[in-house]
Amino acid sequence: MTVRFSDSTGLPDVPDGAAGASPHGMAVRFHLPGGGSTDIVSNAFNGFAVATGEDFLALLQAVARNGKDAPKPTELDRFLAAHTGAMRVVTAPKPTPASFATEPYFGVNAFMFTNAEGKASYGRYQLRPDAGSRFLTADEAAGKSTDFLIDELGDRLAKGPVKFRLVVQMAAAGDPVDDATAVWPDDRPVVELGVLSVTGKVADNDAAQRALGFDPLRLVDGIEASDDPLLELRRSVYSVSRRRRK
Ligand code: HEM
Repeated sequence: MTVRFSDSTGLPDVPDGAAGASPHGMAVRFHLPGGGSTDIVSNAFNGFAVATGEDFLALLQAVARNGKDAPKPTELDRFLAAHTGAMRVVTAPKPTPASFATEPYFGVNAFMFTNAEGKASYGRYQLRPDAGSRFLTADEAAGKSTDFLIDELGDRLAKGPVKFRLVVQMAAAGDPVDDATAVWPDDRPVVELGVLSVTGKVADNDAAQRALGFDPLRLVDGIEASDDPLLELRRSVYSVSRRRRK
């Protein structure tokens, strides 16, 4: 397995403790026996701002035009008032974790899992930290160095593996499976798939990051995409992004 922890936004110089660096990401590439690979791309916020690519584009355009001279109510004010999922993400607290190893990560988009008897169920991935959840206050986060999360991870790995329980939260009948803004209630059952153990840093972090290109639709037999339209969109834009990064 190769795991990439990240700050939000993709801005290469964003400090790990900045408000805009949350939610942080955890992307996992499984190198399969016999070749091939499969990915899980998750972040630390349960639920996405919008359900479709068209709405995401409209949100980003509204953000881009939201200068301090924009007349009130701004395009962004109007967008948020009309999209409760986006309002929830913008206004929810997104504290900086004490460590990449002390917050849970959520796959957000649903997949269809088929068992050996051919029974299909919808579910969403979650990665639950063995070390529990621990967050910083805004003041503590502001006092941290630019790369403190990645540095802390190196210190932690020198003492032993960093573990996460990989679980799938199962949908109940009627839970939306094609809308990433619709968070399923916490009381839905979870199925544990295994324990993911991060054991060390790659030799050349910069080169490894440039070579990696995650794809939430790189799947294995028995796991299929749901009708969530973000999945196809993510596959397409991640590949454009990777080409530009290379
Ligand atoms: C409209 C929907 C979305 C768009 C347009 C979008 C766009 C992107 C792009 C362009 C990248 C860079 C990929 C690369 O350069 O390799 C990226 C990375 C990422 N996205 Fe999204 N994304 C979307 C939805 C989501 C959702 C729902 C999640 C939450 C699970 C998410 C989590 C991440 C993470 C964690 C990364 C970093 C992966 C890495 O470590 O390389 N994204 N996204």
